[in-house]
Amino acid sequence: MFTAGSARRKELDDIISRYPEKRAALLPALWMIQQERGWISEDSMKEVGEQLGCTAAYVKGVVTFYTMYHQHPVGRNFIQVCTTSPCLCAGADDVVKAFLELTGCRELGLTSPDGKYTVIEVECLGACGFATPVQINEDYVENVTPAKVPEILADSLKAIKAEG
Ligand code: FES
Repeated sequence: MFTAGSARRKELDDIISRYPEKRAALLPALWMIQQERGWISEDSMKEVGEQLGCTAAYVKGVVTFYTMYHQHPVGRNFIQVCTTSPCLCAGADDVVKAFLELTGCRELGLTSPDGKYTVIEVECLGACGFATPVQINEDYVENVTPAKVPEILADSLKAIKAEG
């Protein structure tokens, strides 16, 4: 899965050593794969299953249960907008429209032609008092309005450049 002797492999071995069974390390192992490859393919599911002693079907069951795992490639900025009722009442629909329009994604779940963005709607992000909250990769932005979307996207591009 990760090259023997690599930093990733050492990190995974360290995680595995904390549990009585290898397969207990499945969630962090999947997260590491996603960080490394951007998403989790069927081949990756098979690989991690072989590494941790579980079937590809078992791994797929876990990957498909948790929305944090991507089953297809997504943009470098994965944008999640809460559209559960309280945020919807506060204008989340307009926030979604602004992101779709300004990123060029056109539709929820599609990736922009430049590969920089994917926008999806999600259930409650736990920031109901700060509607509309948006999660971009691992960062939270609260009180988002359509007028703030251009600046948020500009900041996200700076973050991409800083990562290299
Ligand atoms: S309903 Fe949107 S964050 Fe809770």
